[in-house]
Amino acid sequence: MSHPKKERTLVVIKPDGVQRTLIGEIIGRFEKIGLKLVGIKMVVLTEDFIEKHYTLNPEWRRITGEKRVKAAREKGEKLPTEDPFEITAVILEKLKKYMTSGPVLAMVWQGAHSVELVRKITGGTEPRSSDVGTIRGDYVIDSYKMADDDGRAVRNLIHASGTVDEAEKEIKHWFKENELINYRLIAEQILYDVNLDGLLE
Ligand code: CDP
Ligand code: MG
Repeated sequence: MSHPKKERTLVVIKPDGVQRTLIGEIIGRFEKIGLKLVGIKMVVLTEDFIEKHYTLNPEWRRITGEKRVKAAREKGEKLPTEDPFEITAVILEKLKKYMTSGPVLAMVWQGAHSVELVRKITGGTEPRSSDVGTIRGDYVIDSYKMADDDGRAVRNLIHASGTVDEAEKEIKHWFKENELINYRLIAEQILYDVNLDGLLE
């Protein structure tokens, strides 16, 4: 088993994040926690690429549909259907429009528990209910209801892999092996070295 500091996760700044000039702010958050940037590129996506990305996890359709049903029940909203697969089919079409609307910035961040920590900093899917202090909670206004009523995807600035398994599949989908760089970051010594020797003169 490789050391936990090798864990990698995919982060994509979505078209609204690029347009809101939040690239520096978002990168800064991940840098400051101690994660290492090992790959980065700006791209314009195709609809096929988006569909493949979201369906790499065979459970994504069911889970995302169920999450929407749960949020609607909590708010007392009535959905046209409670079938998670019908819900996700509509979401996927809206996502294609959203995610191809402008350039996105794709990144791979590496470090211990990177998948979990990046999700924590990113915040929950719906900005209306994302925690204060998270990127989605602090920098954008949107809700499932407003997005559904307006017939569009929820604009939440960022994509971040949900699990280690999802991250591994997504990174392969987005980056070639030679686009990811293995290098040492000086700050890693203070985070991971067992002995912390060599600091004092
Ligand atoms: O991005 P995250 O993993 O938090 O959420 P997801 O359930 O995997 O959904 C992917 C993306 O679809 C979200 O980030 C939203 O942009 C969009 N979405 C939506 O427009 N409407 C929903 N009811 C759920 C998700
Ligand atoms: Mg997801």
